[in-house]
Order: sequence, then structure tokens, then C-alpha cells
Amino acid sequence: MAERVAILLAAGVSSRMNTKLPKVLHEVTGRPMLAYVLDACRSVGVSRIYVVVGFGAEQVKERFADQSADIVWVHQPQQKGTAHAVMCCGEHLQNFEGQTLVLCGDGPLIRAKTLQTLIEKHESGQSAATLATAILDDPTGYGRIIRDDYGNIQGIVEDSDCTPAQRAVREVNPSYYLFNNRVLFRALEQVKPNNVKNEYYLTDALSVIIATGHKVMAVTAVRPEEAVGVNSRAQLSVASKIMQHRVQQELMENGVTIVDPENTWIDARAKIGQDTVIEPFVYIQGEVRIGRGCRVGPFAFLRDGSVLQDDVVLGVFTEIKNTTLADGVRARHHSYLGDADIGRNVNVGAGSITANFDGEQINRTVVGDDCYIGSGAVLIAPLVLKAGARIGAGTLVSQDDAEKLGGKG
Ligand code: UD1
Ligand code: CA
Repeated sequence: MAERVAILLAAGVSSRMNTKLPKVLHEVTGRPMLAYVLDACRSVGVSRIYVVVGFGAEQVKERFADQSADIVWVHQPQQKGTAHAVMCCGEHLQNFEGQTLVLCGDGPLIRAKTLQTLIEKHESGQSAATLATAILDDPTGYGRIIRDDYGNIQGIVEDSDCTPAQRAVREVNPSYYLFNNRVLFRALEQVKPNNVKNEYYLTDALSVIIATGHKVMAVTAVRPEEAVGVNSRAQLSVASKIMQHRVQQELMENGVTIVDPENTWIDARAKIGQDTVIEPFVYIQGEVRIGRGCRVGPFAFLRDGSVLQDDVVLGVFTEIKNTTLADGVRARHHSYLGDADIGRNVNVGAGSITANFDGEQINRTVVGDDCYIGSGAVLIAPLVLKAGARIGAGTLVSQDDAEKLGGKG
């Protein structure tokens, strides 16, 4: 079997995003775009991933520092186009005898399954290059797939270089390809910046490969959503919406009830157990874990680092952050629980809060099992409440007060 590597293009300036942040670090349902593309590559098996960085290179490298064991960072000093970006990998890959996947860091919606199909087609057809195509209602901005009268692909023409007839073509290039590496690098040598933008286009390498008589195949009509490239904030929101739909679909398949998917937002990193019900207007942000049989919302805000064990009820207008709620906790109305460990079966009364920030630092609150916290209590951290303690409604509780309270040790 041929060895396979991947090249991810992530050096672009992203002027249309109007941003100082490198485009591939913009988040889609809580994760940077590039993370999804890396996932897709890894899931089809690649021995190394060459990530081409340029604009904001240091930021990109830093963000992925802890998951870069298989990444080779390649610098593209000037952004002279997608073909030029691939050429920058030449010093590593010039003589590599294997398959090279090329993907764009701004295409987070690529699915592993589609890449797998691409690989299978490439291998069974003994193709020199295999691309995907998609049919879009509005192909504006994308490279158009140009075919001859027999339906054979002749090449790809970028939107800005299209004739009116070409512009009307709705079959576009989603921009992921699998190449015979040697064929790719030989073709790149012939790519010239003969276009409106004066850039070296990777799409022209395909035309060269076709023109020199190599076999080029296509996986046609992949799902339109898998062609969405993020060049603007508007496209970022489109990609986010589609990804959100995927996140929720998967959760529902795993036995989670989402009462009103349109009015619910769940981070891609969240984990939710079977038979938990997510009521409308719930926002789950960051790494949040929710166990089985919980009821969350409506109107709840769950932030990074929160854990709900099983059978927890978190009701209306409750916010939790970096907090663990053990089995059976009830916090039904208007609470803020930050940086806390709340024990089993604790009842948190309406409007009770942890005062976790003293103006200088964040402090923790620990509430033992079976405590009862009356409505409107303020738990002033740092605070440890013994198991079984009862806090009356409207009480301010500091550690000194807690020492005087009863409890079970
Ligand atoms: C590209 C394709 C187009 C396709 C579309 C799909 C080319 C010439 N065009 O267009 O056919 O329909 O994607 O979304 O390939 N990049 C670099 N270095 C560069 C230039 C770009 O690393 O010098 C990276 C960008 O960061 C980006 C990716 O390559 O992640 C694609 O570049 P972009 O400028 O977004 O290309 P499109 O115009 O979207
Ligand atoms: Ca793009």
C-alpha cells in the first residue's frame, strides 16, 4: 500500500474576513476550523501532515502545539497562491513516492467519509489525481469545473477568471484532492501565475496533469455543504450552522433529546449522556460533560469545565462554570455556580450564587452531599460546607459562618 501524507493550506491572509486572527483559528462550534480538517486527515490515515502557515504562523503553531506530533510546519513567506503554498513543501516532499492529500484549512466541513471515497476511487482507478466536485445553487466565488462535450474534466477556472458562460457553471471545486505525489510536484513546476490575481493556482496543476495525459478522476456531486469554504464572516456563520446541526444529530443518535434544535447551541466538544433532555434556549460552551438522565434548561448557560453527573436538574436562567454537580443535584432557577464542587442530591435554591471572585482571585466552593441551600443564599468562596448542612434563605455564608453550622463531617 502506498504511503500517504497530507498537505493543509493555512497560510492565507484572509482579507475578506477582516480579521487580525489567522483565518484557520476562527472557531466553528467551539473549535478552530483547522482542527476539523486535521481530524478528517487523521481519520483516513496519513503518516504526516504538512501544514503550510504564513500569516499569523506563530499563533497557529501555538494553538496546535499540544496536538502536533504528526505535523510538520511549513512556512510560506509570501502568499503567492495555493500552488505556491504546496510548492513550499517541496523540500520535504519533492521525491516522496506516495499519495498526497491536499486540503484547505478554511474548509472545516469536509467529512472523513468523503475523503475515504476519494481515496478508494483514486486507488481503484489508478488515478494520478482525484478531486471532488459539488453542485451549488450559488457557485459564486468558487472555482468552476470545466468539462468537454463528452463530460471529461478539462480543468478548473477560478471565479475571477471565468467567462460569462463559465460563470454559469454550477459544478464547483470544493478544494480537496488526492495526488500521486511525483506527478503533483512535476506539474507544479509548470504552473504560471497567468490570471487576474497573478497567483500560482493549485487548480492549474490539475489542468497541467490532464494536459500531460495523466488520468484524473473525480468524486462528483459531494454534498453541497462539504464544499463550503470560509472566506468571510458570513460564510463562517453558514459553516457554524451546518456544524451545529451535525453536532446535534450525533447527540440525538446517541440518545439525547434536544427539544428545539434551532434554539439550542452545543459546543462540538461537549459530551452528553443517554436520556438527558436539553430544553430550548440552552447554550453549552466549551468542554462540558453531562451525564445520563439530566434535564437542562430552558435558558441555561453551561460554560467550560462544567460536569453534570447523572440525574441532575439545571433549570431556567442558571449559569455554571468550571463546576461539578454530582448525581441528583437540583438547581432549578436563577443560579450562578462558578468554580464549585456541589455534592450529591444538593438542592440549590432559587437565586443562590457562589461569590467566587474576591476582586483579586477566583476561589472555590465545595458543598458536601445532601446540603440544602435556601433561596437567595450567597456562598462566599473560598468555602467548604460540610455534608448535610442547611443554609437558610437569604443567608450570606462565609467560611467563618460555615464553621458554626452543623453537618455530617
Ligand atoms: C480555492 C480554490 C477554488 C475552490 C475554493 C474552495 C484555488 C486557486 N482556488 O479558492 O477553486 O473552489 O478554494 O473553497 O486553489 N492559501 C495559502 N497560501 C496562499 C494562498 C492560499 O496557504 O498563498 C490557503 C488559504 O489560507 C486557504 C486555502 O489556501 O486556507 C485556499 O485559499 P483561498 O484564497 O481561500 O482560495 P479560494 O479563493 O477560496
Ligand atoms: Ca477559501
